[in-house]
Amino acid sequence: MDRFVIEGGRKLSGSVRVGGSKNAALPILFATLMTRGRSRVHNVPRLRDVEFTLTILRELGMAAEWLGEHTIELEVVDEAPCEARYDLVRRMRASFCVLGPLLARRGKARVAMPGGCAIGVRPVDLHKKGLEALGATLPLEHGYFDAVATRLRGAEVFLGGHTGPTVTGTANVMMAATLAEGTTVIEGAACEPEVTDLADFLVACGARVQGQGTPRIAVEGVSELRGCDYTVIPDRIEAGTLVLAGAMANSDIRVEGARGDHLGAVSDVLRQIGIRVVREDGGLRVHASRDVDPVDVTTQPYPGFPTDLQSQLMALLTIADGISVITETIYPDRFMHVAELNRMGASIRKQGASAVVSGQRQLSGAEVMASDLRASAALVLAGLVAKGVTEIQRVYHLDRGYERLDERLAGLGAAIRRVEGPGEAFEGGVA
Ligand code: EPU
Repeated sequence: MDRFVIEGGRKLSGSVRVGGSKNAALPILFATLMTRGRSRVHNVPRLRDVEFTLTILRELGMAAEWLGEHTIELEVVDEAPCEARYDLVRRMRASFCVLGPLLARRGKARVAMPGGCAIGVRPVDLHKKGLEALGATLPLEHGYFDAVATRLRGAEVFLGGHTGPTVTGTANVMMAATLAEGTTVIEGAACEPEVTDLADFLVACGARVQGQGTPRIAVEGVSELRGCDYTVIPDRIEAGTLVLAGAMANSDIRVEGARGDHLGAVSDVLRQIGIRVVREDGGLRVHASRDVDPVDVTTQPYPGFPTDLQSQLMALLTIADGISVITETIYPDRFMHVAELNRMGASIRKQGASAVVSGQRQLSGAEVMASDLRASAALVLAGLVAKGVTEIQRVYHLDRGYERLDERLAGLGAAIRRVEGPGEAFEGGVA
């Protein structure tokens, strides 16, 4: 298994480019199951989760190939296969997004129910509720949804749950609705930019979708979707992670391609702790030049502070000048990084769904273990400033969602290198 070795204490400088959004690209790739003709999807990041998605799509009868560094060409060649095996779904939860497209286009889908993962229980009841409202039946037997829909029909459905809207649930129901008879209205829809990007892709394929980016999405069903050329939005979570890396290293860097309008809550929190994030033409600039102040932050659905940047912000607050409280409302158990950050000298106490972070003057390098994608990113950020050497094991978690993060941070001046180990099975399981 590969590991990262980081020598802390270097300043960062220069500029780094943000890649295409993982969480936008995955549902868009799954949506091509519903299209006739060829699609070319551009700005797709080279990640393990994307490779894994292509494996699933090929099993489901698609031709899918890379054309150059970040473009994938896809076309349906066989509409008979309808099963997404447990062995696939358990490794990458986003693969549950085959359900809506398969039901809409092929009338049936046998998809394993995903289990919990390192960040929590993660139910799929809202996906089921939405697809049932459109007329599908989804009996659960032996761990599989054996879903059938002779004809999907538009309906009104409320998708808000106990913790707010569901991102991939909104995606699944919106995709299914594009080929349903009549109009579907999704109330309590997720407003995340990744959902908007999927809707824009569907529109480019001929779907009629309105209201994306708001809690009320209306979809008027059409009889057919055709392949198209589409460019995925930049990854706001990767951009936020890079911005936080600049802040952590008390440096001045530019994040090329980052969309300031997708990172409003993050910029606001950084401003509160004394770091300036300035929107420039085509990117964001981070100015960090002094000790950071503590802050209290609660994760929320978009446009609030994203849960996917909670662990990285926590890494930064471990060196703040005072006590911060981070409250996690989306995944109350998403705190696997706490124990590892504490091994590096941080002082974090978990209290229910909150973490109380007492800022320390200095972290110290240690051997730590990555447990999931965003927790790994937090350990990398901590390693950038820790005294001495930090070794992060199991960086395959990180490779699921960040393309060559080591090389890109090294390009900014960080002393980070990858040490290759024997290959490991792709166990995935979170995002
Ligand atoms: N929820 C339900 N019922 C459902 C679905 C969700 O109660 O049927 C609850 C969840 O338990 C959670 C909340 O709703 O408390 C939000 O979950 P959501 O469904 O929005 O999460 P997701 O769609 O499974 C996506 C991202 C995650 C990101 C979340 C929240 C993808 C592939 N994954 O997951 O990304 O944390 O939205 O923004 O888009 C990551 O990239 O590291 C990652 C985990």
